[in-house]
Amino acid sequence: MIRLPRFRPGTACIAAMIACTAPAFAAEPRPAFTPPSAASLPDTEFGKIVRQGEQIFLHTPQKAGKFVGNDLTCASCHLDAGRRPDSAPMWAAYVLYPAYRAKNEHVNTLAERLQGCFRFSMNGKAPAADDPTLTALQSYMFWLASKAPTGVVLEGQGYRKLPAPAQKADYVRGSEVYAQYCAVCHGAEGQGQKNGKHWVFPALWGADSFNWGAGMHQIGNAAGFIKANMPLGQAGMLSDQEAWDVAYFMNAHERPQDPRYKDSVATTREKYHDSDDSLYGIEVNGHLLGSDAPPPGGKLLQTAAKPAG
Ligand code: HEC
Ligand code: HEC
Repeated sequence: MIRLPRFRPGTACIAAMIACTAPAFAAEPRPAFTPPSAASLPDTEFGKIVRQGEQIFLHTPQKAGKFVGNDLTCASCHLDAGRRPDSAPMWAAYVLYPAYRAKNEHVNTLAERLQGCFRFSMNGKAPAADDPTLTALQSYMFWLASKAPTGVVLEGQGYRKLPAPAQKADYVRGSEVYAQYCAVCHGAEGQGQKNGKHWVFPALWGADSFNWGAGMHQIGNAAGFIKANMPLGQAGMLSDQEAWDVAYFMNAHERPQDPRYKDSVATTREKYHDSDDSLYGIEVNGHLLGSDAPPPGGKLLQTAAKPAG
């Protein structure tokens, strides 16, 4: 079955004789895809590794601790264990690699793409390309993508790209959206919430969050993620403008340093963040973002600092 793309010049606009400015992708239908159910996972040696991959995805700090510097899991940003459309689902990603990435200006294998997730989103350390952690994650992704076409952008791939906001994204309006819809779970200071030692709601900024090198620090990615997925359980209630404003607000706070940092915030901005999509190196409310960032690596640094034995 082929579902039509999200934006479709409908009969209404044709009838009204207005020019329908559909984005380029509207011409290319994105095939719909449903990943296999968890129950259909075969009880084989391969199935065992797939299951391991799913566990790593869901409990990343516990199952892949030596590579993780914060308390997020892969599923914090790729919901329903990487199954949910519009939260960069793993079945849709699997069929798009190897791929050229502007971020590092070369063709990335899937293993290298996943290394980046650990280094930036998990504020940690990249596993070696042949590490069992990456083998398990790739096996899980491969299995989720069973029978999907290769090299095709599937419906629900990535995060949504929202149209540019009508009004420039704004810190004060964003803070109001945050207080009303987000603070109840993520905390007034974006610090998340723990139940004893166990994290229930992940941090959105500060030392326990993703670092300045992660894709979620880009306002466009965050707005698209938030619009389609937050507030959790009530997704879709925010207007596009509210999603942009709260994404701006969230990413106008300090978080762990970009691990690619070199020389100064200004130089690092020029090399890696030179776009309107990033507030790194920009002054907001009298604070130069990136200038007071905790070092990257989070809790891995404490582990490293402990004497051996
Ligand atoms: C803080 C949120 C966050 C966390 C945690 C996170 N990711 Fe992501 N991930 C993103 C964002 C944002 C993107 C899109 C990045 C971009 O395009 O710049 C992405 C993209 C991806 C992609 C590529 C998707 C595609 O369609 O090309 C894969 C694969 C992926 N992540 C896997 C993982 C895995 C595995 C983990 C855990 C080790 C993880 N991510 C943790 C936010 C996150
Ligand atoms: C009902 C509780 C709840 C509310 C309200 C809520 N979230 Fe979340 N949010 C979560 C949970 C839980 C996750 C992790 C996803 C999961 O475990 O399924 C999450 C994940 C996230 C993430 C990605 C992970 C991270 O820590 O960076 C972002 C960004 C985010 N939420 C932003 C928001 C914003 C902005 C709002 C307000 C518009 C909001 N959330 C409202 C519970 C909530």
